Amino acid sequence: MPQTALPQRPPRAQRPNRPQEATDGFESLDEAHRAAVAMLEIFRRLVAHLDEQGLDVTAEQLAAQVLAFFDGPGRHHHDDEERLVFPELVSLGDAELDALVRRLRQDHHWIDQDWRELSPHVKAVAEGYNGYELPLLQAALPVFEALYLDHIALEESVVYPAARRVRAAAEARRLATA
Ligand SMILES: [Fe+2]
Ligand SMILES: [Fe+2]
Repeated sequence: MPQTALPQRPPRAQRPNRPQEATDGFESLDEAHRAAVAMLEIFRRLVAHLDEQGLDVTAEQLAAQVLAFFDGPGRHHHDDEERLVFPELVSLGDAELDALVRRLRQDHHWIDQDWRELSPHVKAVAEGYNGYELPLLQAALPVFEALYLDHIALEESVVYPAARRVRAAAEARRLATA
């Protein structure tokens, strides 16, 4: 079988510098937030499209994207945080951080509850039948979106930086004793 040459990697000087946080395990969590924000925008487009054009192929495609994300990577992201980020913070015994982690876990529960209410309607659109209620989507989406965006803002402004500090301190201890 003929061997295909791999594309040449550009010299280091031509590659963009990777930010510091790209090496501490948080890059995929940050990426998941960007994906969630983008998907909430697509969800808004879907609801506006249903209102203006009704059910058509475009609506089906938008709904399929929304469904795949919030049933898949969106949900996995919350599991990852509960497994990989929150326990580290709770182990510090800091009452303020404990309260924040409780709130974030509660948010995950509410996001999940809200999505359970929305998803059958999105699924109906994705499958191309009229079993969806537009007024319900119009009323519930802003609540879902606000909850999601507040949640991400709290994680990015307070909780991820604290978790990064914990990780950096553990790494410094490890290097000091190596
Ligand atoms: Fe979260
Ligand atoms: Fe998150």
